[in-house]
Amino acid sequence: MKPTLMLIGLGGLAEVILELLAREESLGRIIVASRNVERGIARCNLARLSAMAQGYSPKINFAPLDLNNAEAVAETVRQESPNLILSCATMQTWWLPDMLPPPQSALINSAGFGVWLPVHLTLTLKLMEALRQADYSGLTLTAPFPDVVNCILGKLNLAPTCGIGNIDEIVPKVRLLAAQRLEVPLEAVRVFLVAHHALEPAAFGTPKVFGEAVGETPPYFLRIEYGGQDVTQTVRADELLFAPYPLPSGPPTHFLTAGSTIRLIRALFSDQGALLHAPAPNGLPGGYPVIAGKSGVQPAPIEGLSLAEAIAINQQSHRFDGIERIEADDGAAVFCPDAVEVLRKALGYNCHRLPPAEAEARATELMARFREYAGQYGVNLENV
Ligand SMILES: NC(=O)c1ccc[n+]([C@@H]2O[C@H](COP(=O)([O-])OP(=O)(O)OC[C@H]3O[C@@H](n4cnc5c(N)ncnc54)[C@H](OP(=O)(O)O)[C@@H]3O)[C@@H](O)[C@H]2O)c1
Repeated sequence: MKPTLMLIGLGGLAEVILELLAREESLGRIIVASRNVERGIARCNLARLSAMAQGYSPKINFAPLDLNNAEAVAETVRQESPNLILSCATMQTWWLPDMLPPPQSALINSAGFGVWLPVHLTLTLKLMEALRQADYSGLTLTAPFPDVVNCILGKLNLAPTCGIGNIDEIVPKVRLLAAQRLEVPLEAVRVFLVAHHALEPAAFGTPKVFGEAVGETPPYFLRIEYGGQDVTQTVRADELLFAPYPLPSGPPTHFLTAGSTIRLIRALFSDQGALLHAPAPNGLPGGYPVIAGKSGVQPAPIEGLSLAEAIAINQQSHRFDGIERIEADDGAAVFCPDAVEVLRKALGYNCHRLPPAEAEARATELMARFREYAGQYGVNLENV
């Protein structure tokens, strides 16, 4: 029987993923689960007809679902019994600071992405608690800031299978440029990258200016093979990693995340599995080369780098997103003082340490303060 996939949180990213999923013939049912019923049904109708117009015949249904109601989430999951759950649900999307006028946008972005942790952690935490309640044993992929969020969830024994996107958005660029430099077919080039979400802006030529990290780039490991041989030095791999490769900003990049996600889902449903890259396999910090197959995702062996060394690289990278560390005992995030200071001065929001249990209250406060701040500069985010 073909597998059932449940897509939770129908926002900008999930809409793009849905369109691609609707064209995946290896899938059985797709259940789209979100709060906004009217919009959700219309979006599912559009995906169904769009795919049909292209010659596919997907089975797509909408199910009302609010992650704030754990009982109901557990019940829906029990009833629908999906093989894979993919959650894109978040309290606030990631590109809102870019809507501010340039000086304010630059200021808020200078705090790094990590300060937004509570808005991305809250619903993923609620999902994983509800899945535990439902005795769900299938695979779970999550979109919201997995390099950090899933690592925190791992400390609570609630780690999803892995995250989506991030590291696997850098790899195609490096692979393409390496194949071009070597003048060989793309298919014969293999990339092994260990890198955190924090490396992505630098890898696309838009270095993030964050406090003490100005001018530095996060640590990473990169090995490139051609026909099984190490060509890392020959292709000058570091140069390729940081070569400018302009992309549109904001929502159009959802296509890149979605493409990577579809490849991961195919691997997870395939008999032979695949070697690819993913963030946070089983709650590890940052991203890794992974082997993905029916039994889940495992970090792949890397020539010249132990798993412990790879984990250390990603742990050291948290601070480039403004997070000093994640505490081992309770999964609390401790933020870098410079990042805290940016939001304290601009928004009056003062959070040095975030235990997971406080994520929702902190997210609500941060979102309210951020909207008030945006309003002062003539940007109305009330309905965004
Ligand atoms: N890993 C990556 O590479 C990558 C790339 C891009 C984005 N992201 C992350 O993916 C996440 C989604 O981004 P986005 O741009 O799609 O955000 P978005 O447009 O704001 O979508 C989030 C959706 O979550 C749903 N939601 C909110 N509260 C919910 C609740 N209580 N229960 C169920 N659903 C709820 C909302 O739909 P309803 O109102 O219908 O509930 C909303 O449309 C963000 O965390 C973003 O940072 C990750």
